[in-house]
Amino acid sequence: MKGNAPAVTVLVSAASQHGATAEIASAVAGELSARGIEADLVPPEEVSTIDGYDAFVIGSGVYAGHWLEPAKELTSRFRESLAEHPVWLFSSGPVGDPAGRFAKAMAREPADVAAVRSAVRARDHHMFAGKLDREALRPAQRALLRIFGGLEGDFRDWTQIRRWADEIAAELAGQRAGGNADSRG
Ligand SMILES: Cc1cc2nc3c(=O)[nH]c(=O)nc-3n(C[C@H](O)[C@H](O)[C@H](O)COP(=O)(O)O)c2cc1C
Repeated sequence: MKGNAPAVTVLVSAASQHGATAEIASAVAGELSARGIEADLVPPEEVSTIDGYDAFVIGSGVYAGHWLEPAKELTSRFRESLAEHPVWLFSSGPVGDPAGRFAKAMAREPADVAAVRSAVRARDHHMFAGKLDREALRPAQRALLRIFGGLEGDFRDWTQIRRWADEIAAELAGQRAGGNADSRG
């Protein structure tokens, strides 16, 4: 249901190399749906139009301090239209002991996010912990994992992820009550 439908419709789209970020996007979409918001989950590569959406949640896995290309490409392709709507950004990155020096270094905002955030006038960027599964990695990535030990595992915090989605739902509900969920009027 898009366009003239009274319900708020959100596009949730995340670039993911190994599936961890896609699963976070799916959890966000599920939580928004549970809060009465229509949420479409579409990978960035498959987004052909953003017409009809009232708000956007866009995310990416982080590799060597950067967002994945499909997420950057999506935000640049629809930059002008995104800037006219509420947009929330997230990244899935830090792995390993959260108190360890690697995870702390990884928790820094990815290099591209400041530019994306200002280009689309995003309301928030949230950095979620990620998941590293040795079996899913490419050979070169596996070699890196051998050098940087202790990073393997699933560090995603589903409570934190759902709470973030709840905050988005609350903001959208507040706007809707104020008659301004869709800034196009
Ligand atoms: C080669 C490699 C480089 C990575 N570099 C970073 C990084 O710079 N910062 C970070 O926070 N996480 C980094 N990670 C962790 C991933 O971002 C994390 O595992 C993420 O959840 C993967 O998401 P995906 O499965 O959706 O691709 C790296 C992982 C690999 C395998």
